[in-house]
Amino acid sequence: MHDDVMPSELVITIDGPAGTGKSTVAYRLAQCLGLEYLDTGSMYRAAALIAIRHQLDPADGGVLATAVAKEAIRFDWSASPPSILLDGENVSERLREMDVSAMVSEVARQPAVRVVLVEQQRSIAAEHPRLVTEGRDQGSVVFPDAKVRFFLHADPAVRAQRRVDQLAAKGSDVDLEVVIADIEQRDHLDSTRSDGPLIRPQGAIDLDTSNMSIDEVVDAMVTRVTRAVADSGDA
Ligand code: DC
Repeated sequence: MHDDVMPSELVITIDGPAGTGKSTVAYRLAQCLGLEYLDTGSMYRAAALIAIRHQLDPADGGVLATAVAKEAIRFDWSASPPSILLDGENVSERLREMDVSAMVSEVARQPAVRVVLVEQQRSIAAEHPRLVTEGRDQGSVVFPDAKVRFFLHADPAVRAQRRVDQLAAKGSDVDLEVVIADIEQRDHLDSTRSDGPLIRPQGAIDLDTSNMSIDEVVDAMVTRVTRAVADSGDA
């Protein structure tokens, strides 16, 4: 839609907790602007799958980081959204399964694992310089100089309701209060971990998505990116 006016190098970061619609809006924004899309959560999930397959202790960051560095985590950029490959096998669906979800926060807490994945994310951006990248630390740690950085947040009760709706659509019935407690607990863990904590990056554009639809969030982002590009004279 707007890709004709986008510069040849443009990294846009989207940080924020789970349940803010981050992945969906990141992918839609990338499509709208004709940019590529990187889901960094899937890289932490791939690291968890490596731990599962090699029966490694996820709390042993050093051993796991070595395995992650050795095993090639790659993306198939011809797919939309890009699929994630482990040693050539498409594991995109596998990464959403329960065992991976249950292990991934422990894996994401390991500083040694983060070092390896952050380096891979920067290499990806060097090869794919027109990129929308989303995660917990993309604007704060990985790409602090990105031209546009967003921080999405939303009321925990709203995020919990979105999660309950998603699960209900898949046929699972869960209690809203339990999900709210789980989200608050995860926010606390994410924002207090020592390495790559979830924080609002300084200078990032703050969007409260509590009362916004996905379309409204994407529209607001497109406006801000178009303005930032025009202001910098890069277009
Ligand atoms: O967004 P997700 O649920 O796929 O993320 C999986 C896990 O990885 C979750 O525990 C948050 C963590 N993560 C992270 O620590 N840093 C990122 N850049 C992306 C995800």
